[in-house]
This record gives sequence, C-alpha cells and structure tokens, in this order.
Amino acid sequence: MIKLAPSILSANFAKLLEDVKKVENAGCEYLHIDVMDGHFVPNITLGPSVVKSLRKDVNMVFDAHLMIENPDQYIKEFVDAGCDIIVVHQEACRHLHRTIQNIKSYGIKVGVSLNPATPIETIKHIIRDVDMVLIMTVNPGFGGQSFIESMIPKIEELKIFIDSEGLNVDIQVDGGIKPDNVDKVVRAGANVIVAGSAIFNSEDIKSTVDLFRKNACA
Ligand code: DX5
Ligand code: ZN
Repeated sequence: MIKLAPSILSANFAKLLEDVKKVENAGCEYLHIDVMDGHFVPNITLGPSVVKSLRKDVNMVFDAHLMIENPDQYIKEFVDAGCDIIVVHQEACRHLHRTIQNIKSYGIKVGVSLNPATPIETIKHIIRDVDMVLIMTVNPGFGGQSFIESMIPKIEELKIFIDSEGLNVDIQVDGGIKPDNVDKVVRAGANVIVAGSAIFNSEDIKSTVDLFRKNACA
C-alpha cells in the first residue's frame, strides 16, 4: 500500500489549516512540509513555528523535508514543533552520518533526500540507519515543475539495492507526481508519494486523492 503525502507548498498559506484539514479528511497519511531557506534552494517557505501551530489541530504524520543549509542547527526546533519524520538532503550535510544520528536521538524517524544529480552510491553506507530515502524527481525549490523521467531507473536501482540488502526502508518520491504518472513511480518501487500542485490545485481534493490511489494500484 502506498502512503500519500500532500505537499503544503501548494496550499493557500492564508488558509493553511483549512487546506490541511481537507487532505487529512481525504485520508492522506503524511503531511509533507517543505522547508526552504533561500540558500540551499532559491526559495523561502516556513519554519518550526508554523509546524507547531498546525500540530495542535492535525493528526497526520508530519514529514518535514528540510531544504536548508546546516540542518543540524534546526533539528531540535523541528522535533519540538512536532515533526514525526525529518528528511535532510545528502548535499546539505557535510557529516551525514552524524546528522542522521542527531535526528534519531530524539526518537523520531529520519530520511535522506537525493537531488536528481546525486547518485544512490552516496548513501550506500548509511542506508541501514534511515527509515526513508527521498528521490527528488524535480530539482528542489518550487512546486509545479515537470517530472524528470530519468529518475525512474534511479528509483528502480534504489529499490533493488534495498531489497538485496533485506532492508525495510521506504522510498519517497517528490516532484511532478500526478494521477497520470503515479503508476510509473510505484512500479519502479516508490511507496510514499508526495504531490503538491496536483492535490492542492485540484477542484475536488477528495476525488483527486482517490484517483491517485486507484491509479497507483493500476
Ligand atoms: C519541491 C518540493 C516539493 C513540491 C512538489 O522542491 O520539495 O515537495 O512541493 O510539488 P509538485 O507536486 O507540484 O511538483
Ligand atoms: Zn518536498
């Protein structure tokens, strides 16, 4: 079974809780929270105080995607704000193993994200320590970009590696995922599906979420 993770980047920030409740009521499991600092990526979004405000009223799994430099500096704040999973970028961590252990020390789940150009090999030696690997299927920074087709063999390569090692690691995909291409990423091995614009820009969120699930199984 897949898990759906709507990305709040495409929500209406002026009505954030209202929009988040729509995806929660539609049965989505994760809330994908895109944190951008204007340095690691050319865009700025939100910080721990927004996460903390949402936490009071939302029961979904809070999945924080940190697209920031020096993530270690902010891990504790995001944990205290109520995140259940923190995902850091391989490219932003000089001492990735240390950062992973830092996140795990708080008793929450940890993920590592790879930009499109970053090979699977770069996480081979730390994959046993993580709960999830996020394969970026666009270059991070913005919602509404086109899916990069060459990420399909990368997802397959990761899935083969995880299975061959007998590991229990989720594969998350993020960027340009729509109801009409979700089947491809799921067949390649992804089981946690991020979707921003496809969900929040749709007229009827519940039927779009249902369509994602139906097509994912096709
Ligand atoms: C991009 C973000 C994504 C983004 C996805 O940097 O990490 O989570 O919101 O948006 P869509 O689904 O519109 O590509
Ligand atoms: Zn994201």
